Amino acid sequence: MTRVFTGISDLFTPARRLGDAAMVVEEGVVSWIGPRKELPLSYREQPHQHLGDRGVLPGLVDSHTHLVWAGDRLEEYRLRACGARYEEILEAGGGIYHTVEATSRASSETLLELAEQRAEIFLRGGVTTLEIKSGYGLETAQELRILEVVRALNRRIPQRVVPTLLAHVIPKGWRRQAYLEMFTTELIPEVRRRGLAEAVDVFCDRGAFELQASRSIMESARHHGLSVKAHAEQLERLGASQLVAELGGLSADHLEQTNEQDWRALARAGSVATLLPGATLILGKSLPDARGMLAAGVKLAVASDHNPGSSPLFSLFLALQLAIVLAGLSVEEALMAGTRHAALALGKPELGNLEPGSAADFLVIDGRNATLPLYTWGQLPLRQVFIAGECVCSLA
Ligand code: NIG
Ligand code: FE
Repeated sequence: MTRVFTGISDLFTPARRLGDAAMVVEEGVVSWIGPRKELPLSYREQPHQHLGDRGVLPGLVDSHTHLVWAGDRLEEYRLRACGARYEEILEAGGGIYHTVEATSRASSETLLELAEQRAEIFLRGGVTTLEIKSGYGLETAQELRILEVVRALNRRIPQRVVPTLLAHVIPKGWRRQAYLEMFTTELIPEVRRRGLAEAVDVFCDRGAFELQASRSIMESARHHGLSVKAHAEQLERLGASQLVAELGGLSADHLEQTNEQDWRALARAGSVATLLPGATLILGKSLPDARGMLAAGVKLAVASDHNPGSSPLFSLFLALQLAIVLAGLSVEEALMAGTRHAALALGKPELGNLEPGSAADFLVIDGRNATLPLYTWGQLPLRQVFIAGECVCSLA
């Protein structure tokens, strides 16, 4: 099936920007874009859809979320607002552990419904691809259950879902070495056998996994044919970014405590550096020097890090806006960070852009200028969300 989209006043691919454009979609994939007047003759007789002289952006790619969780962390939020520190709450057995307990008590159906409601909010916020991590299970059976929920969610929602196994923290009552052994010799192989995740992420930080343990987990992941990534240098600089670079990982995320050496290593390896402004701000930290990162040649992505503790954020556009004002990204760099680079952080170059050969996932903006959603805060000017060339959400 071929469809020609016209009535596009401003098209961001995001590498190119075209005025008065047309886009041809065949079998859910972009096959041609260009000025409307240059539409090849062969397409002129195909069915047309006029988008009303509106801007078009690629669908956003949220490359870092923890979407499956139950309970809430309102009490922790209240305490942190009064000065309590995230790390102290975690070390005292709260924080992530609090969510692990609530998630473990919830039925799979409840977890699925909660995640579905959240995914719908993200869809209405322009996110067409969601990476989703496990990590609130910790024990083998619970981690597998969460990844099965992600698989069921993938069948229920219109968005593309990319599942990741997360080594989050050592469960209560486990010795470090025994958990590491279980994770690398049982959990990773079983996840691989069931096809439940594409990558393994390690929270390499104080209160979670130290560098050597992170290396064992990542090496086991690679041995089983899974990609690797890390929550790196969020609280303390343990060396996770350079480890990701050394192992050719997809991305290193957070990066608040990184320095130029880390950025250069990521740039050389082609690993994406992902900023998570929601978590940075909520924990009262400063964003890393994004201009320095770009100067070092790093590909920058920005993600929501949606989770109940450090980033109860439901808007990737807001994360991009924060990256513009607080990390000094240009509007174009921010768009790239929420589309093309985020897709590269998932190892999916066919997503997050509208060049020929890419998936036809796009947003129709409620206005002529495609960058409008990066300008207005708290009011998102979106009209429609398309995935694989089909309208999956109408907002106006
Ligand atoms: O990406 N830093 C570790 N993991 C999550 C937070 C999880 C939580 O606080 O529940 C993060 O910030
Ligand atoms: Fe995270």
